[in-house]
Amino acid sequence: MRVKKAVVPVAGLGTRFLPATKVIPKEMLTVVDRPTIQYIVEEVVGSDIKEVVLVTASGKSAIEDHFDYSFELETFLSQKGKLDLLKEVRHISTLIDVVSVRQKEPLGLGHAVLVTEPVVVDEPFAVVLGDDLVDAEVPCVYQMIKVFEQFRESVVAVQQVPLEDTHRYGIVEGREVAPGVYEVKRLIEKPPPGTTTSNLAIIGRYILRPEIYGCLHRTLPGVGGEIQLTDALDILRKERGLYAYEFTGKRFDAGDKFGYLQATVNYALQHPDLGGIFKEYLKKLVSSF
Ligand code: UTP
Repeated sequence: MRVKKAVVPVAGLGTRFLPATKVIPKEMLTVVDRPTIQYIVEEVVGSDIKEVVLVTASGKSAIEDHFDYSFELETFLSQKGKLDLLKEVRHISTLIDVVSVRQKEPLGLGHAVLVTEPVVVDEPFAVVLGDDLVDAEVPCVYQMIKVFEQFRESVVAVQQVPLEDTHRYGIVEGREVAPGVYEVKRLIEKPPPGTTTSNLAIIGRYILRPEIYGCLHRTLPGVGGEIQLTDALDILRKERGLYAYEFTGKRFDAGDKFGYLQATVNYALQHPDLGGIFKEYLKKLVSSF
């Protein structure tokens, strides 16, 4: 069973980034010179996936437009002879085939995945959160697909976090069955301090078997009255099994102001035109404190 589709939920309200996100979707906020959603799509494409199922909501149409042809802009750039820019703009619209599904109310990440059932139906698929960036030599989704192909059950991406931060994440307890691969024994959503010794936190990348939909149908609203994907994953774990994979790469929560700044610095330092001068600037800045 090959993973051919990626579900990218972008229907959240982005309240942590207000007022910037009052009108602009947080996934369209720019990290250096690309909106965060473009980094996500490039990771998906780099993982041999061409079909993206966007879970959208009102006010999010800029995301779909970003991956569509822009006739007026392309004509303008062509007439002005700005061929490099034209190439760049055209490239974006050829990256993926987009299907959009509407989530009418932000009822949680689990609900956002559930509304894609009529489009995905009965094949395994990736879920990639629109505001979680992973900078990795081998795309994180690609790494996870390899684990899925080996173990043939759903896989969640995890990273080690300081124990004092575990209450902010979904935490996985498990047994290591291969380097960096854990058979999940317990899933705990935002555990109160002192209630787990595991520091393996779930981040925004999943490879899911289609049986997750049946589990989501049976998931009652949890923390915050939302349908939590973690709760459905716990049902899936009991019924079929679930693996966690400690991926290689640097992850940034770009939906959070501090994470967004860290992502910006990280990608700016690697930018072919800006990296050098930005590094010099940072060095001078640090020495002036
Ligand atoms: P977040 O909780 O980070 O997004 O959900 P949010 O709700 O937009 O952010 P804040 O907390 O208010 O700032 C992770 C991802 O899941 C999507 C979001 O768009 C984000 O990409 N999501 C979340 C949905 O699509 N629907 C939901 O009901 C909730």
